[in-house]
Amino acid sequence: MKTIGRVCALLPALFLATSLPAFPQQLGASSTQNAAGPAWWKNAVICEIYPRSFQDSNGDGVGDLNGITSRLDYLQKLGVNAIWLTPIYPSPQVDFGYDISDYEAIDPQYGTMADFDRLVAEAQKRGIRIIMDLVLNHTSDQDPWFKESASSRTNPKADWYMWRDPKMVNGQREPPNNWISGFGGSAWQWDPARRQYYYHRFYVQQPDLNWNNPQVRQAMYDVERFWIRKGVAGFRLDAITALFEDPQDRNEPYVLGPDGKPRINAYGDKEVTSIYTDNLPEVHDVLRQLRQVADETGSGNTVLIGETYLNSIADLRKMYGANNDELQLPMDMQVGFINKFDVPLFRRRINEAETELNGDQPLFVFDNHDNPRWDRYQLSADGTPQYGYGPHHDGIGRVIATVLFASRDTALMYYGDAIGMVTTPPARKEDVRDPIGIRGWPKEKGRDGERTPMQWNAGPDAGFSSSGVKTWLPIPPSYTTYNVAAEEPSQDSMLHWYQQLIALKKGDPALHDGAEIMLNTSDNRVLSWLRKGPDGESVVVACNFTDQPQTISFNLSAQGVQGTRMKTLMITPGAAEPQSLHSIQLGPYGVYIGEVR
Ligand code: NOJ
Repeated sequence: MKTIGRVCALLPALFLATSLPAFPQQLGASSTQNAAGPAWWKNAVICEIYPRSFQDSNGDGVGDLNGITSRLDYLQKLGVNAIWLTPIYPSPQVDFGYDISDYEAIDPQYGTMADFDRLVAEAQKRGIRIIMDLVLNHTSDQDPWFKESASSRTNPKADWYMWRDPKMVNGQREPPNNWISGFGGSAWQWDPARRQYYYHRFYVQQPDLNWNNPQVRQAMYDVERFWIRKGVAGFRLDAITALFEDPQDRNEPYVLGPDGKPRINAYGDKEVTSIYTDNLPEVHDVLRQLRQVADETGSGNTVLIGETYLNSIADLRKMYGANNDELQLPMDMQVGFINKFDVPLFRRRINEAETELNGDQPLFVFDNHDNPRWDRYQLSADGTPQYGYGPHHDGIGRVIATVLFASRDTALMYYGDAIGMVTTPPARKEDVRDPIGIRGWPKEKGRDGERTPMQWNAGPDAGFSSSGVKTWLPIPPSYTTYNVAAEEPSQDSMLHWYQQLIALKKGDPALHDGAEIMLNTSDNRVLSWLRKGPDGESVVVACNFTDQPQTISFNLSAQGVQGTRMKTLMITPGAAEPQSLHSIQLGPYGVYIGEVR
């Protein structure tokens, strides 16, 4: 597929276009206090880890918890404050963990509860917190809750899922409406035992819970309490905007193509909007309750992060809650998923995050396990992403990392980003592991390409696994060049760029929490901004979004900055350091960060 649109694999047609009371202070996160304790997550650096792919410790070709524990030193050195683990609960693994069959245990594939406890403890020693993925919208069809619910129309959990009678048309049974699953086909599955349909936003094996049922809510709030008491620092709330659907089950309007007919997606379905199935106002009530449970159980230190693919800054703002009582960090997908180097659009979106979120903390993100990696920003002339190591791979990576870490935000990165790993989609349908890639082939190749094993070194299995067994996904050929061991000693490596940027984000007062002001706002080639610290410290950041050299100049008098001499903080390797604000030369995709003196 033109995976550049996959942002929406989940929400089709949306984007197209135990608490840790004595946590060490050296975290580098903000010392800002909220009413209940340090808002450690403010301006923090969070790394998403896909446990299957990070480090295999037992030689079965699949990553695991002990593997992650063995790599904590790497994460600490990188400067990471917290890791978000995608689901590690028992699961049939149809959706690689997003189909949970027991919310309060660990899948044996990843280890034991004792391994988890050790991970939390070892991470804590290194100033790293653990964030769990909480999948509230649906369970696995193998979850005992669903099995009970499906067993009859009268059992105690009969109403825990979204059961509906069929619509009878000319004596034929049909699904209640035209809603489609984000993963292909109707969103309704017939259950012969109950003689009813159930709704599934994602795979057939992922039935949606009925969030109008107070018992469902209580059960999930208990899960939340369980993990907070285990010592986790927060949750990434999966598909959180999809909890509620239209109570009248109204048909979604079709998304029309240029010929006026419904557009057909990669799975052959007529595309529909999501006005009746996503971002319904009822979700805010649940967010407030989740927050209340988190605040009460975690002494105010527990962070709630939302998977929030939303269409506008106004919708994103609502996710924080009218009284700051919902999510602390709904993901801002508006910036990172622009998917092309469009300076005015980046400027507008970053500025919106700075000025239109009531001063709340933005969370920027460019990559995750559902979308191609940042190499998707290398476009061919027709706008198609060119995955892999193009001539500007490193330059593009430095630009993206700079926007992510030198903005006033909490930064969410994905494992492998820091060493410049690239999207490596399967070449043949028979190699695909992600079911959407099998169903949608060849238009939709699935998400395997962004889930390949971490590249630690140039040895066997890239250091990811040691036994010589087939790894669950193949190791990309680039591991011989792009790997941690090769990049660590090099001052010019992507890894070094990330380490430096993260160190500045934590240590430089302007870059840590300083206001962000866009500069040279009519320049369509170079995105520049000023960060102004609490005591007037001023740092300028300039990123050349083109493959041509550019020369820029700043006049900061309107921003009340007097000096014109520059002290370079970071610059693209090999570029000449500018002496003054009046002439800064940037090579193709060149970056400059300097303090004004
Ligand atoms: C979003 C997750 O990121 C994705 O991987 C998953 O398939 C869906 N939610 C369903 O849980």
